[in-house]
Amino acid sequence: MAGIDYLERIPNNVNLAENRRLQRALEEWQPKFLEWWTDMGPHGYQAKEVYLRTATSVDAQGWAQFGYVQMPEYRWGIFLAEPEPGRTINFGDHKGAPAWQEVPGEYRGVLRRLIVTQGDTEPASVEQQRHLGRTCPSLYDLRNLFQVNVEEGRHLWAMVYLLDAHFGRDGREESEALLQRRSGDRDKPRILGAFNEPTPDWLSFFMFTYFTDRDGKYQLAALAESGFDPLSRTCRFMLTEEAHHMFVGETGVGRMVQRACELMREHKTEDVRKYGGIDLPTLQKYLNFHFSVSVDLFGSEISTNAANFYTMGLKGRFEETKKDDDHRLKTATYPVAQLDSDRIVMREEPALPSLNERLRDDYVEDCARGVARWNQIIQKAGIDAELKLPHRAFRRAIGAFAEVRVSPDGRVLSEAEWDANKHAWLPTEDDQAYVQSLMHGVTERGRFANWIAPPARGINGQPLDFEYVRLG
Ligand SMILES: [Fe+2]
Ligand SMILES: [Fe+2]
Repeated sequence: MAGIDYLERIPNNVNLAENRRLQRALEEWQPKFLEWWTDMGPHGYQAKEVYLRTATSVDAQGWAQFGYVQMPEYRWGIFLAEPEPGRTINFGDHKGAPAWQEVPGEYRGVLRRLIVTQGDTEPASVEQQRHLGRTCPSLYDLRNLFQVNVEEGRHLWAMVYLLDAHFGRDGREESEALLQRRSGDRDKPRILGAFNEPTPDWLSFFMFTYFTDRDGKYQLAALAESGFDPLSRTCRFMLTEEAHHMFVGETGVGRMVQRACELMREHKTEDVRKYGGIDLPTLQKYLNFHFSVSVDLFGSEISTNAANFYTMGLKGRFEETKKDDDHRLKTATYPVAQLDSDRIVMREEPALPSLNERLRDDYVEDCARGVARWNQIIQKAGIDAELKLPHRAFRRAIGAFAEVRVSPDGRVLSEAEWDANKHAWLPTEDDQAYVQSLMHGVTERGRFANWIAPPARGINGQPLDFEYVRLG
């Protein structure tokens, strides 16, 4: 990539042109990023022109510029939301002090870890999704997949910017390590569990963007409250892009639900597999799986780390400034679901160590809103069925419920009961094979795979039969 106009290639509002040290760090990192993108990014489409949105500034005109681009030529920019003049730290021990523009020395290690953990999820999901292009249900969906992928790439840039700009040599080492871990790799896996699960088909992709990108939303929103101002501003801008990823998930699942309903009505049967659809019970199983993997991402119900992040002013609550309390929470309590022998009960716990659970509560509530919208699609079709979020204790690997078996409706089960029912609750090998059997690339303009309804409208006002990806 010698000879590129480096500054032009990296649109930014962080004064990159005037920071030689940072420029040099990013110049060294960029070829490694591109190498990673070539090896681990979307497989098979790197030379194709894709109708993508690029951010060239943070204002209303600049943040969503549409045009054809080959993905390796994408302009991965570095953007921070506009500064709030006089911004102060809004919670914890430093509440009321001016927000930090530089890393506070005593929190350096903790802050770096928070940024690396968030940053690691971004390339991980690109790796998880890299084989999906071949089996896209339409050009529209193919384009959306790539949009999500390049933006996760940009989010990686955003985190690498923070590491390079504010953490010196160890920041640069972490930036390299972010390109070296691999999703699902036995020896050097990605940091968080959900990001090591495969995304083998489009049903999984849509569930992932609905449930797991939504975890991203809540983590970013909590970090957007940070007293470390560059992190806060970075996350605030990332949230604008994240909204599209969740849109892809919600509408993707909604369109599969709609298609299932159409086939049910047309053929007067619940078994739409005969007609090449994805039946509602199968959708429910995938929903159960992806929800359970995603709620684990919030961590243990009771966590001293979570308390420390808050007290230190590094990670706040969702919509921290709208909460009507002292924003220190030293004496406050919070109701937390817990295991009491073979029952799940609510108990008041000190609020600070319960902050993971509180963020999970906000997340679960948000998840439920989309499920309600999917159920409206079912209702409108006149079909008597309902999708449900499983209980938060269902199939957990982290926290108080990791050691027990819990049904989707929240009953603690014996191992035998679990074994007898798990096939009804989670995708079986047969389900996975069936879903896989539907996955064939549909790349004719305006056509959609039989198992998914077309979307209500195209991207950026374009028609549904627009050439979202130029395959010729
Ligand atoms: Fe992201
Ligand atoms: Fe995302």
